[in-house]
Amino acid sequence: MELSIISESEDQTKQIAKKFYEKLQEGDIVLLIGQLGCGKTTFVKGIIESAGINGQNCPSPTFILAQEFKGDKNILHIDLYRLNNKEDIEEFFINQVGNYLDSYIVIIEWGEKILDFLLKQKLLFKKVVFEIKDTNTRILTLL
Ligand SMILES: Nc1ncnc2c1ncn2[C@@H]1O[C@H](COP(=O)(O)OP(=O)(O)OP(=O)(O)O)[C@@H](O)[C@H]1O
Ligand SMILES: [Mg+2]
Repeated sequence: MELSIISESEDQTKQIAKKFYEKLQEGDIVLLIGQLGCGKTTFVKGIIESAGINGQNCPSPTFILAQEFKGDKNILHIDLYRLNNKEDIEEFFINQVGNYLDSYIVIIEWGEKILDFLLKQKLLFKKVVFEIKDTNTRILTLL
């Protein structure tokens, strides 16, 4: 089912993430899709705070590819911003993410980069698409 929600602040985006988190379980893959600054990392902060982890530990810009958090539910946060080559992305996913798939919620910024590969592997995933309407307004569509 498709659901679009308007967020008018960073805090509202985190609140939406919290509701979304409640329905997630380890083994889920979540693709976050949307342009620079649309709120993907903010959404991840909302998710990891909901798991009882301090959101300060969640870096915003993309210095690392993946970071794991052990909370009420385990979360692996991935940011594919800097990976553009298809082979690199697939190799990264197979070698670095494969072991996490069963026991973590895997949440991926720039998720569109791995979408075709997941389909090919017959791995199920959820999608959150972010649209920037104006300075503080975002539309989040949950798919
Ligand atoms: N409704 C909103 N929801 C989320 N962020 C908002 C909202 N309104 C304004 N912002 C601002 O937009 C920016 C979102 O940054 P964030 O790092 O979450 O985006 P991102 O999609 O992860 O970017 P990147 O593509 O660089 O990783 C922040 O500066 C935040 O304050
Ligand atoms: Mg980000």
